[in-house]
Amino acid sequence: MRRRALSLWLITACAPAAPDAPRDSDDAHDTDAVGHTDLPVACVDPEAPCDVLPAPADDPACGAVLRADPDAPFPERLSALACLAAGDPWMPAEGVVPYDLATPLFSEGVRKARFWSTSAAAPVDPVPDAPWVFPEGAVVLKVFGHPGAAVHDRPLEVRVMARLGGAWRFQGYAWDEALADGVRVDDDLLVTLPDEDDAPWWFPSARSCPVCHRAEALEVLGPRTAQLARTVVHEGVRADQLVALWQAGWLASLPSAAERAAGWADPHGDAPLEQRVRSWLQGNCAHCHRPGGFRPPDLQLDLRLDVPLDEMAACDVQARGRIARGRGPLIAPGDAAGSVIVQRIQAADAYRMPPDGGREVDQAFLDDLVRWIDGLEDCTPTAAP
Ligand code: HEC
Ligand code: HEC
Repeated sequence: MRRRALSLWLITACAPAAPDAPRDSDDAHDTDAVGHTDLPVACVDPEAPCDVLPAPADDPACGAVLRADPDAPFPERLSALACLAAGDPWMPAEGVVPYDLATPLFSEGVRKARFWSTSAAAPVDPVPDAPWVFPEGAVVLKVFGHPGAAVHDRPLEVRVMARLGGAWRFQGYAWDEALADGVRVDDDLLVTLPDEDDAPWWFPSARSCPVCHRAEALEVLGPRTAQLARTVVHEGVRADQLVALWQAGWLASLPSAAERAAGWADPHGDAPLEQRVRSWLQGNCAHCHRPGGFRPPDLQLDLRLDVPLDEMAACDVQARGRIARGRGPLIAPGDAAGSVIVQRIQAADAYRMPPDGGREVDQAFLDDLVRWIDGLEDCTPTAAP
């Protein structure tokens, strides 16, 4: 992986810091249901029409420039993709839909928004128990906010995947506030952000996206039924996300009622402790710690949610990697402090997992992980986590 250090941020002409912005804004496409329990509920009955989400376009503008010449490089400016609202990258353009995950990648706590675009004639296939299948020409986007608490709503980066020629193509854009547009990231950038005095932010170039996306180069990492089976807030109502997407025409079929009820736990919600811990590990670690993931082949550690505790190669299993070897078991039942997995998540240096982090640890999760491991008596798996 090639990294180039810059001493100043691309976005030097920053506006003064906005007042401490809440993490859940109340815009029309706030998809985080937390704290909105008093809102009316809609889109639960698949038979009753609901219209909280935009419909797909017959010929969406989003990504048209890519589909016109699938072998050409991505445009230099994000705006040329026509996927996000002009001047507000947190809002989708017409023909683009927002979606939300049960267990997203934490990424140092930054605000993120996720969108996709397909044509009305070729909806997404929500295959069961696997990543969803996106049609040729689909575009998926992830918008990242600035990590500084005071400037949380300032966009920092937009990452784009487009399904072209039967494969996914990747591109990152760094948000240039002076231009109010994203600028294509051609080489990996490691940038010290203003308002930040410690770990620099890594803007991956297209070459580095497969570090995490590689195990499933033809698949998405997020969208699948268990990830999207949840209640989200749109247009002032709480809606069943899968029913709303299907009603609006984005899905080729509606996942069954049983699938819709079996969504993965929100790691910060109110599901039982073990379910929340396993869900967080799935969302933050399993894209590498799984068969075929980006980790040394002799490390068998498997952090996928549906792998039973005694098959994760973690519980009472000694660390065997070059860096952690000799430091004890990955998970020591009843002894969180003595568990390498805990030590590595809370480390502030290069020992830290996940490896690209460095600024902020998800402390609420760490507390849960410690409680879960301290409460384990042995490595006997409980019923499905
Ligand atoms: C450190 C690991 C990592 C790297 C590097 C990475 N991604 Fe991702 N990405 C993820 C994970 C995990 C998800 C799914 C969870 C989520 O959306 O929070 C994801 C989701 C996405 C999505 C939504 C579709 C999907 O597959 O879920 C897009 C688009 C995306 N990434 C683009 C990119 C691009 C473009 C790059 C390179 C510029 C990149 N990513 C680099 C881990 C990574
Ligand atoms: C981008 C890929 C990637 C992600 C994401 C990732 N890891 Fe790792 N992990 C690695 C690699 C590569 C190694 C081996 C090198 C090392 O030990 O640092 C490793 C090693 C480890 C080890 C040491 C295993 C041993 O036997 O020595 C532990 C424990 C670990 N990771 C836990 C985690 C946890 C927990 C998460 C999620 C918070 C996570 N990792 C996320 C790539 C990743």
